[in-house]
Amino acid sequence: MSLINENFLELQESYLFSTVAKKVAKFAEEHPDKKIIKLGIGDVTRPIAKACIEAMHKAVDELGTEEGFRGYGPEQGYDFLRNAIVENDYKARGIDISSDEVFVSDGAKCDCGNIVDIFAKDNVVAITDPVYPVYLDTNVMAGRSGKFNKEKQVYENIVYLPVTAQNNFEPELPKQKVDLIYLCFPNNPTGTVLTKEQLKKWVDYAKENNSIILYDAAYEAFITEKNIPHSIYEVEGAKDVAIEFKSYSKTAGFTGVRCAYLVIPKTVKGYTKTGEKIELNKLWNRRTCTKFNGVSYIVQRAAEATYSKEGKKEIKANIEYYLENAKIIREGLIKAGYEVYGGVNSPYIWLKVPGNMTSWEFFDKLLAEKNIVGTPGSGFGPHGEGYFRLTAFGTRENSIEAIKRI
Ligand code: MLT
Repeated sequence: MSLINENFLELQESYLFSTVAKKVAKFAEEHPDKKIIKLGIGDVTRPIAKACIEAMHKAVDELGTEEGFRGYGPEQGYDFLRNAIVENDYKARGIDISSDEVFVSDGAKCDCGNIVDIFAKDNVVAITDPVYPVYLDTNVMAGRSGKFNKEKQVYENIVYLPVTAQNNFEPELPKQKVDLIYLCFPNNPTGTVLTKEQLKKWVDYAKENNSIILYDAAYEAFITEKNIPHSIYEVEGAKDVAIEFKSYSKTAGFTGVRCAYLVIPKTVKGYTKTGEKIELNKLWNRRTCTKFNGVSYIVQRAAEATYSKEGKKEIKANIEYYLENAKIIREGLIKAGYEVYGGVNSPYIWLKVPGNMTSWEFFDKLLAEKNIVGTPGSGFGPHGEGYFRLTAFGTRENSIEAIKRI
């Protein structure tokens, strides 16, 4: 008899964005005449930068030649990309990371999900609430969550750190000791940020408690304000306690191309039950070599091109385009009387649902009456109830049209 991983039975309904997609598909089928504007899932709409397209074409041609053919690449990523990451994303910010601390992958979602493999089941996990559902669900799958409490809408072994307007979207340090802490800034879904000083409290907490911070910096390119760290390693001491996730999805438009990376400094250590310190970099490297054969050469050349002069210029223009959408949506909503957060250092706009409606009721109303799709806040956790997320990743035309309709 094949026994299943029963942790999967603890997961709640379907994955948030699949539920949203199903509801929208049903509405579209029933109302074929309606022009639906999708500002739900954070998927990009701008074409991929020319510099990246050219790099991919060139790589394809190379693979068709005797001298340019490549089979399996290094599991951790080609040196040309790992070095470019170190130079541009770290050295340029005064951060000392070496290329063997960088692991290239096919997406930050996969990295955030897979990283749980190297940690013991008994770790206490803390997540901010609301949160990107991948952090929670992958820990449920790994058996770290305990049972789901239907009434409170929380798992019994997970520590939830509310981020709401009441605390200005700054999570409080946990009262109890936690081992793994997921932080994402600029935040998905709230679009809010932490300053270096605010982030330092977390690094200090992690150092005092021998915890690890899993820092998702997928949206750092959207930061516009000063004193907001682009990498957790800008914070003193973070290289001892933090793993950082970065993605080319939202910056270079690689949601379909797939490329990301994570950084595990060799100074980040975990513990055995007997208290022996172990480099997490070694464990992740071992896992990577066993379970992954690397990102395709073509895609890695495209990622490398994001750091070229042309690539940087084109990507900056795309990010500015989305930030302008964010401004249009944010200011439009404020003008329409909504309470609005995010959208300044982030492509996400987080709004308070009007009246006493739940997030899902507002979702249904917006879809039915204005034919606009967003993401209900409660889908990101119990403290997301009463909020709603819109993304700035749509086209300019749709962003303007959505605000007109609202
Ligand atoms: C989101 O909408 O939150 C993101 O698109 C999800 C993701 O990046 O996987």
